[in-house]
Amino acid sequence: MRIAIFGLGYVGCVSAACFAREGHEVIGVDVNPLKVNMINAGQSPIIETGVDELIHQAVTAGRLRATTLTAEAITQADVSLICVGTPSNENGSLDLKYVHHVAGEIGQALTTQKKYHVIAIRSTVLPGTVTNEVIPLLEEISGLKVGTDFGVCSNPEFLREGSAVADFYRPAFTLIGQWDERSGDRVAAIYKNIDAPVVRTDLPTAEMIKYVSNTFHALKITFANEIGNFCKKMSIDSHEVMRIFCMDTKLNISPVYLKPGYAFGGSCLPKDLRALLHRARQEDLDLPVLQAIPRSNELQARLGVEAVLRTGKKRIGILGLSFKAGTDDLRESPLVYLAETLLGKGYDLRIYDENVSMARLTGANKQYIEKVIPHISSLLSSSLDEVLAMSEVLVVGNRLPAVATLLEQTNDRHIIIDLVRIREGLNGLDENYQGICW
Ligand SMILES: NC(=O)c1ccc[n+]([C@@H]2O[C@H](COP(=O)([O-])OP(=O)(O)OC[C@H]3O[C@@H](n4cnc5c(N)ncnc54)[C@H](O)[C@@H]3O)[C@@H](O)[C@H]2O)c1
Repeated sequence: MRIAIFGLGYVGCVSAACFAREGHEVIGVDVNPLKVNMINAGQSPIIETGVDELIHQAVTAGRLRATTLTAEAITQADVSLICVGTPSNENGSLDLKYVHHVAGEIGQALTTQKKYHVIAIRSTVLPGTVTNEVIPLLEEISGLKVGTDFGVCSNPEFLREGSAVADFYRPAFTLIGQWDERSGDRVAAIYKNIDAPVVRTDLPTAEMIKYVSNTFHALKITFANEIGNFCKKMSIDSHEVMRIFCMDTKLNISPVYLKPGYAFGGSCLPKDLRALLHRARQEDLDLPVLQAIPRSNELQARLGVEAVLRTGKKRIGILGLSFKAGTDDLRESPLVYLAETLLGKGYDLRIYDENVSMARLTGANKQYIEKVIPHISSLLSSSLDEVLAMSEVLVVGNRLPAVATLLEQTNDRHIIIDLVRIREGLNGLDENYQGICW
């Protein structure tokens, strides 16, 4: 395919070199004539392992050249990849002037373009930028219509400087946020020979995934550093700790615990985190990220309460009371906090949790239920139908199988607040079906 690459910095140069090596015909565009001249002389404008050689080979083979002229590149290309910089402004906001400028130039060049062309934004931009800023700019300046006359995709880049060429050929996935199927097909075609799954989604999801990835990387580094600082105080080798920690790919390095939902609770996580933070304080260790976890968790628990308050209804059914499904353990359950808070505000509650009801009957957790939370336990009902009949609002607190079935039968008079996303596929934005963080 014929690919125009706008911005010959780290991302643009690596992409240009690698796509040309894959046999595509690449034309690079940059406002900086020095970079353009270097590419045309077969030299890399950036220092990055392997790129200099790839650029030299591609230019010699006639598959790569560069220009400062946008229109020249657009007329010769099927796809444009925008790889210009998106630096920070002083206040931390994203400076989009290069993206706006290049989109304006491409929009202008599209007016003389006779064939369908796709523009893919590889630069890192916040969710909504392509839909709310890039597309309107392209349409306004070109007088053309997205979807009909040209296509648009978000195609975030995940390479790491220092191993960028290797990352290009072996990414975890190629991510394409597409305006429509036709745009996505065109961008997917340029990755035909890359051995990685192609993930296609909508534009804002793709834009968001780039931020989730980098935020998570930053969080992981900081987490490991704070654990390292704690270990050093304890004279424990943090590298040995993290090596063994990472061997657990079931719970530690895995998708487990990465689903947005309600606050954590139970008999272990809150207690153990408290103990670790207390020991850190005794050692005069400041661990800001770890110290922020309890507060973040409290705010999440409060969001559940606020969602109920917002409904303006007074008769509330809570479906699930233990801290997760499949257990009767109520210690530090955020649902007990939710129930206690609503009770304190005078709400009329009924609670269903088959595991807790069973424990009350069989005596397993009887003492805790009767001594620690008698005010809550008296609200327990062993009948889902009864809870349904008396409630205006249903709060789904954990993934009880009976609750999933029950929700199929509810009628419009119930407002459902789902804290666990018991019904996959619903976006939680409906007034009668609200998700907590989706
Ligand atoms: N560097 C990385 O490791 C990396 C990795 C993934 C994503 N990203 C993202 O990719 C984007 C580019 O990053 P980078 O590090 O390659 O930036 P960079 O600053 O190295 O390069 C940007 C290039 O764009 C050029 N440019 C500016 N305006 C232009 C215009 N109107 N037309 C043509 N060229 C223009 C500049 O002259 C410069 O050469 C950023 O959004 C960045 O966040 C970077």
